[in-house]
Formats: sequence, C-alpha cells, structure tokens
Amino acid sequence: MVKDKKIKRVAILASGGNSPAMNNVVITMIRKCRYYGVEILLVNNGYYGLLNEDFTKPDLSSLSYFYATGNIFIGSSRFPKFKEYEYQQKAVRILKNHKIDCLFVVGGDGSYRGAADLKKLGVRVICFPGTIDNDVASTERTIGFSTALNNIINNIDAVRNCFDSHLGVCLVEVMGRRFPDLAINAGIACQAEEIITVDNILTTKQIIDITKQTWKNKHRSCLIVVTEKIYGRDGLPTLKEVADAVEKATNRISRVCVLGYTQRGGIPTAEDRNLAIAMADYGLDLALNKPNGSYAIGLNNNRITHIEIEKAVNMDAKTINSEILRKFNRYNKI
Ligand code: F6P
Repeated sequence: MVKDKKIKRVAILASGGNSPAMNNVVITMIRKCRYYGVEILLVNNGYYGLLNEDFTKPDLSSLSYFYATGNIFIGSSRFPKFKEYEYQQKAVRILKNHKIDCLFVVGGDGSYRGAADLKKLGVRVICFPGTIDNDVASTERTIGFSTALNNIINNIDAVRNCFDSHLGVCLVEVMGRRFPDLAINAGIACQAEEIITVDNILTTKQIIDITKQTWKNKHRSCLIVVTEKIYGRDGLPTLKEVADAVEKATNRISRVCVLGYTQRGGIPTAEDRNLAIAMADYGLDLALNKPNGSYAIGLNNNRITHIEIEKAVNMDAKTINSEILRKFNRYNKI
C-alpha cells in the first residue's frame, strides 16, 4: 500500500546485455507511474543515452506490443567509461537539471555498480536484476534467466536429435560469463552426459574417457554442456581442439555448437514476465514509501526483497548448489 507520495518525476534506463522481460519492468513502471501521477522519462540506450540526454516520454500505444518481446524497447548499452568519475558527475548534473527524483536501472552487475556510483554522488537509485546469467548477488533469480534457459533447452533438444542420428559427440557452449547457472540447469534438464563449469573443468583426456564410457553404456549420443569463457584461455585448449581430439580418439563425429545470441532473445516466459512485473511494482512502491533510500530489488526465498545498493554490490554471487552438479555428473553417464 502506498502511504505517501514524495516523488514527482522519475527516469528508467536499461544497461548491459538485453535480457528478455526487461520490457515488462519498463511497461509496469510506466503504467504504475501514471496511476500514481508520477511523471516517468525513458532513457534510451543505457548510461550512454543518459550522458547524451537521450530521454523520451512513453508512447502508450506501443506497450501492448512490447510486453511479449525479448528485446528492450528503450535500448540498452554497455558503457565501461561510466566507471570514470567525470562521466558520473555529468550524469548527476543531467539528472538534476531534469529534476529526476529517482533513477530506476534494470541490468546486471556492472549496471548496479554504475548506479551505486551515482548514489554516492547523491542520486537516488533503485535497481532491478536484468541479465540472463543469474549472477547478481542480491537475488536468487534474475529477469531473463528463465527465458534463456528455455531457449537453451529447446536448442539442445534439437542438437540431440542430430547427434543421436549420427552417434556423435557435441560440446554445446552456453552463455553465462563463466557463471554456471545456465549450464547446470540446462544440462540437467537435457540429460547431458556431462556439464562443465568453472567448478568442474575437465582435461581433454577426461572428456575422451567420458565419451568412451557413454558408448559403453549404449548412449546414442554424448552431449557435453560447457559454460562459455572457460576453454581457449588460461592454458586450456579451445573447444574445437578438444572436439578434434575426441574424434581422433573415438572415431565418432565430434563437433562444437555455440548457441550464442539465440539464448538472449525470443518471447519471454511467463516466469520472467511475472518476476519483472512483481519487481517493478515493488520497486515503485519502495520509491514512493521510503523517500530517501537507494536499493537493489531481488527475489529471495520466493519473496520480493530489497537491500541497500551499496550492500548489493559488495556481495558475491552464489551459484546454485554445486553439489547438485556433482551428483548429476555421477549418474548421467550410466
Ligand atoms: O551478460 C549477458 C551475456 O549474454 C553473457 O552471457 C555473455 O557473455 C555476454 O553477455 C555477451 O556479451 P556481448 O553482448 O557484449 O557479446
């Protein structure tokens, strides 16, 4: 329940990689702001747009289209230069000139840091976790994770059809910026023969042994789900080099399939839309009811939560239980 309305004008921006259902945050904010008579400005293209005073007013006629699309209709950007003090100061000046009482930010870890820096300079901020990676420390679930996961499993199921037909091996690389949640959840859902994450990095020899074991156990195909940004660095071979070695050692077709950006678009799932809507609803209530705080909104123990933004950016992201992964990897080759 909203008790008191102290803010008159707010702005919202999206930052970092797009994530399905970011739109639902923005749409909810627009509609709820109208309901409470709060003016909302849309900042186009993230912090970069903010520095260029790229603001627009909502076009109400398009909202019923964007609620079901995986883009972010106000645009987003990665803008590493925002770490620099002079850019932050400029942003503060712009927000003050436009009389913005609170800036809402939807994005991942880097976007939160940008918001926390603005807070230090006196700007009120409220952040929503929008990233497919599920790697924002202050929440158990990020907006977009569910859609990306479903995209991944649909793709892996299709890959399975191909490699089942040819008795082959496929190393399927998924996104996550080294964070394992997408790989673990997708790998389990698709009965992958192995899941490789930062906590479970395997040598080429180990991967060869696993593929041999799965043939012995009559699996038609061997799918290994791998988190991106592990192989091909830190002295590890590339996935292509691993696949070539597997093919040589086993005489089976061995390939790499990088799912890439197919993961980050598409129709947002009901879970992501509803999470986005619930978080936006909560965030605006918070802005109206607690006139001075700056917060990160999260989902924890099945409830929408908030903590101070400074605390949020100092937490370490926890992955889902790596014990689950260990257990699964023990029996999925049998
Ligand atoms: O953070 C989201 C994400 O999709 C990561 O999973 C991936 O590593 C990265 O963005 C890709 O970044 P870019 O869009 O800059 O290529």
